[in-house]
Amino acid sequence: MRKTGDDAIPGDLDHAGLIDRFLRVNQAGELGAVRIYQGQRAILGRKGGPTAPLLKRMAEQEQEHLDTFSHLIGERRTRPTVLSPLWHLAGFALGAGTALLGEKAAMACTVAVEETIDEHYARQAEQLGEDEAALKDTIRKFREDEIEHRDIGLAHGAEQAPAYPLLSSAIKGGCRLAIWLSERI
Ligand SMILES: [Fe+2]
Ligand SMILES: [Fe+2]
Repeated sequence: MRKTGDDAIPGDLDHAGLIDRFLRVNQAGELGAVRIYQGQRAILGRKGGPTAPLLKRMAEQEQEHLDTFSHLIGERRTRPTVLSPLWHLAGFALGAGTALLGEKAAMACTVAVEETIDEHYARQAEQLGEDEAALKDTIRKFREDEIEHRDIGLAHGAEQAPAYPLLSSAIKGGCRLAIWLSERI
């Protein structure tokens, strides 16, 4: 039963352990994403600025991603991460905090988060084989949405945000830590 992709399962996991880890971290990540966009919309949505409709659309897509992984977690009887309450708060704080710095900083946050998730989903898709074709398709489809979100951020001034390199690397570091933790606990 071991195996999905080609020799790609980390040594300490079996098939079920790998899928558990994927579903747990993806549900956590999509929860974080939903909350980031809620935080951004709480600040920027009200002003009705140029990015308000884009934020609304991205938030709806993140909700769809979250609903899908929440459903799969139930179906596969995976234990959700114990850190959900933390991501609930931290996601909103990150979204609202960057939005308070301005629209460009909010977009810089989007680019940093979505780039990290793009890499994360690409890595997962590589580790899945034909025995997990449906899950692999879902992850690939969501990855395309995340890449679109990143491109929206880039098209709306992310790189002109104040202290962009610092902001971007801090957010990416936070996301990577959140991924590592949510895979495990
Ligand atoms: Fe997403
Ligand atoms: Fe996204």
